[in-house]
Amino acid sequence: MGTKGRQIVGMDVDELIKLLNQAFADEWLAYYQYWIGAKVVKGPMKDAVASELVLHATEELAHADMLAMRIIQLGGTPIIDPKDWSKFSHCGYDAPVSAFVKDILAQNIKGEQCAIDVYQKLQMLVRDKDPVTYNIVLTILQQEVEHEEDLQALDEDLDSLMMSK
Ligand SMILES: [Fe+2]
Ligand SMILES: [Fe+2]
Repeated sequence: MGTKGRQIVGMDVDELIKLLNQAFADEWLAYYQYWIGAKVVKGPMKDAVASELVLHATEELAHADMLAMRIIQLGGTPIIDPKDWSKFSHCGYDAPVSAFVKDILAQNIKGEQCAIDVYQKLQMLVRDKDPVTYNIVLTILQQEVEHEEDLQALDEDLDSLMMSK
């Protein structure tokens, strides 16, 4: 733990670590939701959708990595037991019970909208209090916004494809 680095945080560090761990749990569940979704997805444009899901999975995992690094820097421990992911997660996990491409997209759009909410709140909270966390949260938030847009664009393409048939 960096003593000075922890000192400059103008808020309750343990509370911040808790919030970062919740986001960390969200990221792992989002990672798996995308990863398994890409495997099982069926229907029109499934290859295009699967490659987007795989890309998002990779980026969610990178978010988990950034959060873990920050938690450790602050003197905390990232959640060490996957059993705790669901317990700590704010956005939860939606199993792709229906493999239909539009259902999988809808689940992941919902997940992204939850993530945008989480990071927007976190960003407001750490603004002026912890510039290092702020920077990380902003980077992640920008990508979640892109993710939502990517998925909604695919969903629109699907609609036009299905209507033209
Ligand atoms: Fe993420
Ligand atoms: Fe995302």
